[in-house]
Amino acid sequence: MTLVTEVRLRRVLDSRGTPTVEAEVRTESGGFGRGAAPSGASTGEYEAIELPAEEAIAKARELAVPRLEGQVYAGDQRGVDGALRSADGTDDFSEIGANSAVAISMAAAKAAADVLGAPLYQHLGGAFRGRNFPVPLGNVVGGGEHAADATHIQEFLSAPVGAPSVADAVFANAAVHAEVRDLLEERGIAAAKGDEGAWAPSVDDAEAFEVVAEAVDAVAAEVGFEVGFGLDVAASELYDADDGVYRYGEETRSPEEQVDYVADLVEEYDLVYVEDPLEEDDFEGFADLTARVGGRSTGRAGPGGRPGRGGGTLVCGDDLFVTNTDRLERGIEAGAANSILVKPNQIGTLSEAFDAIELAVRNGYVPVVSHRSGETEDTTIAHLAVATDAPFIKTGAVGGERTAKLNELIRIEANA
Ligand code: PGA
Ligand code: ZN
Repeated sequence: MTLVTEVRLRRVLDSRGTPTVEAEVRTESGGFGRGAAPSGASTGEYEAIELPAEEAIAKARELAVPRLEGQVYAGDQRGVDGALRSADGTDDFSEIGANSAVAISMAAAKAAADVLGAPLYQHLGGAFRGRNFPVPLGNVVGGGEHAADATHIQEFLSAPVGAPSVADAVFANAAVHAEVRDLLEERGIAAAKGDEGAWAPSVDDAEAFEVVAEAVDAVAAEVGFEVGFGLDVAASELYDADDGVYRYGEETRSPEEQVDYVADLVEEYDLVYVEDPLEEDDFEGFADLTARVGGRSTGRAGPGGRPGRGGGTLVCGDDLFVTNTDRLERGIEAGAANSILVKPNQIGTLSEAFDAIELAVRNGYVPVVSHRSGETEDTTIAHLAVATDAPFIKTGAVGGERTAKLNELIRIEANA
């Protein structure tokens, strides 16, 4: 039996030193699972609501725990997540907090896997999953909301698309990260790290492009497989809604100029991936860019040499879609992208993250499972990516809360 008998909630630290919600679920047969909520800094306007950890815990204890203990089966993920939804009663989890919801949702899944004696990815994905591995996108240089006085573009991501294994890909990203440090040093540029462990030098975006392009080329030559790169522009953070322009410091770009700018960058650097190139309400701008670069013929193999989608540039919606099937439907109708970022805490439950992935795949959108800038040592997203056969995962390149996921992928690959 996987009847949930106990749900415990507590505050734990996240990687920014901020309290976050940790949940533990126990079942009648002795199953145990633990999950902790991540937290964003450049959060989308349409995300489910994160409450202060203490408040989220108090509300979840009052409203959700009585509907779970003795009431639902951990193995029935939709039952657990449905109970969380009805306990909350809002569309955006503003009553119990998406942070409480996602922590409980993940803990229940792990408790169910524990009862089965199976790895989490197998419980979530079934017996036929676990043969393909996601290509990790590694944040190597960044700024935006993740570091002060650094690049305007939030993330420059190493993309080892030619890697023969997940372990090779993980080490390639770490090598690019190290190479970036060396190149910055050669240029006499000091750099601390931002929230996700990426270098956060005080350089303009143009110089960051030079350095990252050089670093991925150097590492590709060394490892002997293709390493490209991509971006998370996080353009909502650059957008000045009053004036209708994107602000890069003193420089501004109109929405049309922004599309041209990103399309030119894609061509110049043969970018594998561009996330949130336009602000979160501009479905039309996204569609324009996708029409221009989404079907590029690059001669590149699919991720990890997989068949299926070719090597065209991925235009990915993060703040645009917020892991929400209603927003994704709208995007599909508009032709707004060809990829979706999937962050379980943006929507609040694992079931709904699965729904977003399924809708994406049915419509030819590539799901990219993702961490947040504030993270813990929780490894659920590594299992989620393998369970859903997601071609990419974005979970940093270095740093303990990032390597927790990367090392878990290496272990899953080694044991599969
Ligand atoms: P966030 O950033 O977790 O701070 O929202 C990550 C992203 O924008 O992809
Ligand atoms: Zn993003």
